[in-house]
Amino acid sequence: MIAVARDQEQPLILPERVPRHIGIIMDGNGRWAKARGLPRTEGHRQGTENLRRIIKACVEFGVEILTIYAFSTENWRRPPLEVRLLLTILETVIDRELQELHDNGVQIRHIGRTDRLSPALLRKIKDACEYTKDNNRLILNVAFNYGGRDEIIHAVREIVKAGIPAEEINEDVVNRYMYTSGLPDPDFIIRTSGELRASNFLIWQAAYAEYYFTPTYWPDFDREQLLEAIREYSRRTRRFGKTDEQIGTDAPDRTQPF
Ligand code: FPP
Repeated sequence: MIAVARDQEQPLILPERVPRHIGIIMDGNGRWAKARGLPRTEGHRQGTENLRRIIKACVEFGVEILTIYAFSTENWRRPPLEVRLLLTILETVIDRELQELHDNGVQIRHIGRTDRLSPALLRKIKDACEYTKDNNRLILNVAFNYGGRDEIIHAVREIVKAGIPAEEINEDVVNRYMYTSGLPDPDFIIRTSGELRASNFLIWQAAYAEYYFTPTYWPDFDREQLLEAIREYSRRTRRFGKTDEQIGTDAPDRTQPF
């Protein structure tokens, strides 16, 4: 795995300073299109193209997990035609990109609710996850029909159904019942388009994540901008509630398996 980001003018980023798990709120497709006098659909089309580039860049930079916010539980409130389009995009992306993603060692996972998705789409998602399940260069977690609060409610219900006694419930137990069970928490959450909100994205898992906000609309957020974001991340000190002295200058440990 290429774990070092190379760039001609800028210094290298140490592999252990590259976030292991990045979450992206891919925002601004509509405004990108509006600014060009194009229909919103074109914004989503360009946003999808950009996603291909960013997945490739994540593989190149040695990111291990990329979680993308593709469709939230709140997005059902959009005009029906746009909802239809976003559902179709997912289908098309799976049809068109699955083999290339597989060839690049990408493992696809879905996080989110399965209700309201058609049996045909669910089948496609399941098949894509199954087909790529042994790949290990990058885990691509697709948050689709996903909401953070909804995920927590789902976990609580499952914990109750499993009959786990109240006094045994701790963070590890809750983690086990989240959609991201078994994965490390996101280190770095990027949101494009200038909005400064978490919007119900990985709200449990991102408790200690570093956030990065950029005014760039998603279709224009390219490899160089991702690299710049990672550079900024690499300069931050993550304290996890501790003091600077306790943290020292030690690089984060990336040797822990997940
Ligand atoms: C936010 O832009 C974007 C979305 C709600 C959808 C994101 C989808 C893609 C980038 C395509 C890839 C999708 C899949 C399923 C893999 P917006 O429409 O909220 O933009 P606006 O805030 O400017 O209106």
